[in-house]
Amino acid sequence: MKINILGLPVKESELIVKELNILLSNFQVYYQNLRGIHWNIRGKRFFDLHVKFEELYNDSQLKIDMIAERVLTLGGTPFHTFEDYIKNSQLPVGKNISIDEKAIHLIVNSLAHLLKIEREILYKASEISDEGTNSMMSDFIAEQEKVIWMMQAWLEEGL
Ligand SMILES: [Fe+2]
Repeated sequence: MKINILGLPVKESELIVKELNILLSNFQVYYQNLRGIHWNIRGKRFFDLHVKFEELYNDSQLKIDMIAERVLTLGGTPFHTFEDYIKNSQLPVGKNISIDEKAIHLIVNSLAHLLKIEREILYKASEISDEGTNSMMSDFIAEQEKVIWMMQAWLEEGL
């Protein structure tokens, strides 16, 4: 088995790079979804949600950079064009969303999709003891699960 300078098997690392690039693409669409709802949200909760969505897109931007730099660390090239992002993302795209409930549903659905990809990467990374990728995925998963809990608590208003 060929091993790279990090001590990880070359072939499996390349596979993880591929999946990280797919995660990166999906994250970029999520980020753009968040910008969209930050801009277009209307109604009495505007001030709360406008700020909350900004907090979330800033956090996503940091994660996007972490994913891209993990790709580089593993010897790959991160996707960086809109063309590649669109081609490799399956995330729901939110367009002209101004209603608060629709915006929160978009976040929950987007995060649920990201979680799926991250768990898949976590599984593959743990098989080759790629702890760097592994711990990044663990952190993302725990944080995103918490956001889903909070968004669902918000959606349950009046139940
Ligand atoms: Fe803004």
